[in-house]
Amino acid sequence: MFQTKTIVKTFAAAGILALSAGASYAEGDAAKGEAVFKKCSSCHLIGPDATNKVGPALTGIMGRTAGTVEGYKYGKDIVAAGEAGLVWTEEEVFDYLKDPKKYLRAKLDNKKAKSKMSFKLKKEDQRKDVIAYLKTFSSGAQEGEPATEEESSTTN
Ligand code: HEC
Repeated sequence: MFQTKTIVKTFAAAGILALSAGASYAEGDAAKGEAVFKKCSSCHLIGPDATNKVGPALTGIMGRTAGTVEGYKYGKDIVAAGEAGLVWTEEEVFDYLKDPKKYLRAKLDNKKAKSKMSFKLKKEDQRKDVIAYLKTFSSGAQEGEPATEEESSTTN
């Protein structure tokens, strides 16, 4: 009995790994991301009642066009990136958080582009985790719900 259980578990774990490998990178941990978000919360609020602060409210940010939170006064360069088609996918937010100004400069191919967000989150695992957390507030995120163990074990 014990052995069967172990095998099932192993298969489930392998399924998750296989799924993650198919995505651009491994999934972050939303619970850890909640702790990481404390770094963001001096400027950003998130949740059903979130309002704009120093930065825009981040509720529903995943899957949304950049620079489009209502009532927030963005810098012109992030608005230009949104108008050029930038949508916040996991990959884009991952790159953006590392260095928003550098990111916008590369996106817009404009060495003078500026970001109103001066904060940088260098650590990869923290970026992944905070993205997983942001996704929990974005029902329309294109990746959908995280796969459950059951689903994972059958897709393998
Ligand atoms: C020091 C204040 C500050 C901190 C800390 C900060 N941000 Fe920002 N953030 C901003 C500002 C200001 C903007 C608007 C950028 C612009 O207009 O160029 C922004 C924009 C963004 C955007 C784009 C929003 C949109 O509607 O297009 C995302 C995503 C974002 N921040 C995520 C984060 C996350 C996640 C963290 C924490 C890891 C974080 N920010 C930490 C100030 C901050």
